[in-house]
Amino acid sequence: MAVRPRVIINAAMSVDGKIALPDGKGVRLSNEEDLRRVHRLRAAADAILVGVGTVLKDDPKLTVKSEYAKGRNPLRVVLDSDGKIPDSAHVLDGSAPTLIVTSEESGRSFPRAEVMRLGKDEVDLQALLDRLAARDVKTILVEGGSTVIWSFLRKGLADEVKVFVSSRVLGGQAAPTLAGGQGVTSLDAAPRLRLDRIERLGDGALLEYAVVR
Ligand SMILES: NC(=O)c1ccc[n+]([C@@H]2O[C@H](COP(=O)([O-])OP(=O)(O)OC[C@H]3O[C@@H](n4cnc5c(N)ncnc54)[C@H](OP(=O)(O)O)[C@@H]3O)[C@@H](O)[C@H]2O)c1
Repeated sequence: MAVRPRVIINAAMSVDGKIALPDGKGVRLSNEEDLRRVHRLRAAADAILVGVGTVLKDDPKLTVKSEYAKGRNPLRVVLDSDGKIPDSAHVLDGSAPTLIVTSEESGRSFPRAEVMRLGKDEVDLQALLDRLAARDVKTILVEGGSTVIWSFLRKGLADEVKVFVSSRVLGGQAAPTLAGGQGVTSLDAAPRLRLDRIERLGDGALLEYAVVR
């Protein structure tokens, strides 16, 4: 059986841990130094994965920008159980190979993307990793958002967490944080990370963690 892909979570957050504005609208928290790092990371990955919430709020392209890094575009993977991605979304523009992962119940098809149906209510992440491994995906960059990052951490399916901490404070009770979902009910149940590296990047800081198993 193929080896499970290495899962790297990457995100940018404010000093107060927010990854977007209180209304969920995305903001560019990365500075130029961090954007260069992120695009290199993308170019080195086999797949970039986000949830449909990120597509609906930010409409990201999820490609490698040539001004920041050289390299081919990895496979774009979007978790979209009900098939809610609008036809106009950048991930459906045909500029890079794209895989939309829906639940088994969804009947939606996407003319410019491949569709994989996995799981009942939400996408079964373990099954997805197995399927991606079988097609030789070795590294997956999970770029958000809050709910998806929490899912990977809660299920013990992430290997690394890279967080760029910008020098902004966004505030707002409702602003999404690095990890959302249900959260834990005790510290014992909290996923544990090991801080491996800290680097100053311009006016921000990059924190790199390994997930402790
Ligand atoms: N600063 C950063 O680095 C950064 C990066 C990316 C996003 N963001 C921000 O993050 C926010 C979006 O986060 P979000 O939490 O709303 O949405 P999200 O994590 O992007 O997507 C969550 C959705 O994915 C679908 N999904 C399917 N299977 C799943 C599974 N196994 N686990 C988790 N989700 C699954 C679910 O919707 P269905 O049930 O409908 O399928 C779920 O509601 C935006 O505000 C965006 O700006 C920030």
